[in-house]
Amino acid sequence: MSVTREEGLAAWERIYAVASHPRCTNCHVGASGVPMWEGLSYGPGAAHGMGIRADASRIGAQSIPCRTCHLTTDSPNSQPHAPPRIAQAWRLPPVELDWLGKDSAALCAQLRDPATNDGNDIAGLVAHLQSSPFVAWGFAPGGGRSFPAGSVAELAEDVALWGRAGTPCE
Ligand code: HEC
Ligand code: HEC
Repeated sequence: MSVTREEGLAAWERIYAVASHPRCTNCHVGASGVPMWEGLSYGPGAAHGMGIRADASRIGAQSIPCRTCHLTTDSPNSQPHAPPRIAQAWRLPPVELDWLGKDSAALCAQLRDPATNDGNDIAGLVAHLQSSPFVAWGFAPGGGRSFPAGSVAELAEDVALWGRAGTPCE
C-alpha cells in the first residue's frame, strides 16, 4: 500500500513526540553519560542525583553500577521516586543514540541513517521497538510518572509507515 509524503511526515511528528519525551531522553543522553531526571518534579535540565555516571560501559562499571539500585527483575517498582526496574540490565544506550535536546529535523536525520542509529534499517528499528523492555517501560513506567501518548504498537506502526513514505523529515 502506498503512503504519501504527508502521511509519512505526520507519522514522523508522532514518533518525535514519543522519542523526545523524558521517559526516553532521560536515558538517550549521549556522550555525557549522565542520565537525566527530567519530568520527575526536579525541573527542566535536572541531572540524575547522587553524581551517577554511566561511563563507557553505559552501566556505571567504573563507579556505582546502575544495578546497585535499578535491580534486574520482572517485578516492577511502582512506588513514586523509587528506582525503576525491569527484567533487563538497566543501562544507557550507546553514545550515538543521543537524542536529548535534539529538534525534530536533527533527530529525524539521525534516526533514518544506520550510521547514526546503531546500525538499523527500518525493519530493525521496528523490531527493537516491539521487543525492547526499555521502550515497554517508557509507555508504562508506573510510580505516577508521565508517559508519551500512544502505545508500543502504534509507535512501531508509525515507524513502518514513515519508512514506507521514504523517511521524510520536513
Ligand atoms: C533505561 C534506559 C532506556 C530508556 C528509558 C529508553 N531506552 Fe531506548 N535504548 C536503550 C538501550 C540500552 C539501547 C541500545 C539497544 C539495547 O541494548 O537494547 C536503546 C536503543 C534504542 C533504539 C535504537 C535501536 C537499537 O537497535 O539500538 C531506539 C529506536 C530506542 N532505544 C527507542 C526508545 C524509545 C522510543 C524510548 C522511550 C519510549 C526509549 N528508547 C527509552 C535504553 C533506553
Ligand atoms: C544510588 C542509587 C542509584 C544508582 C546507582 C543509579 N540510579 Fe538511576 N535512579 C535512582 C532513583 C532513586 C531514581 C528515581 C528518581 C525519581 O523518580 O525521583 C532513578 C531514576 C533514573 C532515571 C530516570 C527514569 C525516569 O523516570 O525517567 C534514569 C534514566 C536512571 N535512573 C538511569 C540510571 C543509570 C543509567 C544508572 C547507572 C549508570 C543509574 N541510574 C544508577 C537511583 C539510582
